[in-house]
Amino acid sequence: MQIIHAVRDMQLQSLSWRAAGWRIAFVPTMGNLHEGHLSLVREAARRGDRVVVSIFVNPLQFNEAADYRHYPRTFEQDRQQLAALDVAAVFAPDEAAMYPEGRESVTRVEVPQLTSELEGAHRPGHFTGVATVVTKLFQAVLPDLALFGEKDYQQLLVVRKLAADLNMPVEVIGLPTRREADGLAMSSRNSRLRAPERRQAPALYATLQWVGEQWRAGEIDLSALEAAAMARLADAGFAPEYISLRDAATLQPPAAGRPVVVLGAARLGEVRLIDNLRIGAT
Ligand code: PAJ
Repeated sequence: MQIIHAVRDMQLQSLSWRAAGWRIAFVPTMGNLHEGHLSLVREAARRGDRVVVSIFVNPLQFNEAADYRHYPRTFEQDRQQLAALDVAAVFAPDEAAMYPEGRESVTRVEVPQLTSELEGAHRPGHFTGVATVVTKLFQAVLPDLALFGEKDYQQLLVVRKLAADLNMPVEVIGLPTRREADGLAMSSRNSRLRAPERRQAPALYATLQWVGEQWRAGEIDLSALEAAAMARLADAGFAPEYISLRDAATLQPPAAGRPVVVLGAARLGEVRLIDNLRIGAT
């Protein structure tokens, strides 16, 4: 398994793989890898001939300086986990390699649809940071396919739209959220939960499941249902930011007969958690 730091070296390696006819499957990450990430890597190995995993904590997508500062950086541990899988290269640029003229002056990629609400409303600039770095990573790795988790549901839709709008020759694949035994969605930020918070944390997923049950049982007053779910989260010790039922494809308000997703974000102490659950059509 190669470790590649420079954008040009990554491009040259990918160009030679492509010339040999190999399909490159790419998993972008910010490191501190857990089973959610590794499930994407295993599926990449099944679908592609050469797997590239990137590890880059992208400062452009963090809207809170403290969140960026405290983001867990565990490169050596990550490298060992990837070496045990079928990974051809880890692309691990530093900030100077990704933003040589400084991140403030870099060309931005904006996805106007899908980004103003939910995570976009609570994290200003976040999706511009994600769209910009994903575009730059795709240009470095030159993948045939790229795998993303449904854990970050809105991000997955934004990346799909980005790739389609900018004619990127990349197939964007979404894979299911991996969870702990108690239902908590795996996340690099979970390691920052204190012991009592970790015990409260599964209430986020439990609340999304409760919303799904109410919805299937015929509850159609969406704002009442969302407000009741927020109250449940507050009772469980969270500071909820949103619980929202949306059309699973467009993130618009649910329309009759179309698949629905319920998305949620809430703070537990200093940690912000997000999760979502598809709950089927009406
Ligand atoms: P990161 O949070 O490290 O996540 C990398 C990928 O792993 C994303 O596609 C994310 O959805 C997926 N993932 C995270 N937790 C998961 C889980 N429990 N189950 C399944 N997949 C999971 O998302 C990012 O990094 C960044 O925004 C990035 C796309 C790398 C751009 O910087």
